[in-house]
Amino acid sequence: MVRISGEEPGRRAARHRRSNGARGAGFRPEPWDRGEHSRSNRPPAGETKMHIDRFREMYVAELQEARSVEAMLAAALGKMAEAASDEELRKAFRTHREETVAHGAQVETILKRLKAGPLEHKDQAMQSIVREAEKMMGITEPGPLRDAALIASAQRVEHYEIALYGTLATYASSLGLEEDARQLGDILEDEKATDEELSDIAEGIVNPSAIEAG
Ligand SMILES: [Fe+2]
Repeated sequence: MVRISGEEPGRRAARHRRSNGARGAGFRPEPWDRGEHSRSNRPPAGETKMHIDRFREMYVAELQEARSVEAMLAAALGKMAEAASDEELRKAFRTHREETVAHGAQVETILKRLKAGPLEHKDQAMQSIVREAEKMMGITEPGPLRDAALIASAQRVEHYEIALYGTLATYASSLGLEEDARQLGDILEDEKATDEELSDIAEGIVNPSAIEAG
């Protein structure tokens, strides 16, 4: 841990609490994050307690998260395409679903090249975003309002993926893995293009129709 000279531990702790303010005043790490081990403090089913102490291991773990993200998203985009009413939006979701499957395969290729094991990290942030999208589908009727909600959910996903692949491409080039960096950079560009396409559909078609429908 980096020590800031002359600073008392209590002050450091107070500063740390402030820097975690965005997580809410009541934020408390989960037991498995606090290093507490007991039968009742195990991570949720499917989660493996792990420890990472090398940058390359972290890169591999993030790639495994990305594989999980793409698999969850491919399933969600199929449902979102069915739930969409606007033909252009439906087509955009279907195209992005195909891209998502291709991204998953590319991440798999990178993992194989790195000789990474089959370990799967289920990405819980993505799970939550997908759950929110399902909730919105459940509380809106088919039509432009639901389409607007679907775009909002899909763009949350895109921004999450942009952050994920931006980091991964940077990690790869920091590690001198140029082929990985190129492939991850290409995926990043696809995610950005999808985000822009969704903005165009929202601003040009779906949002005005939703407002007009009252
Ligand atoms: Fe993707």
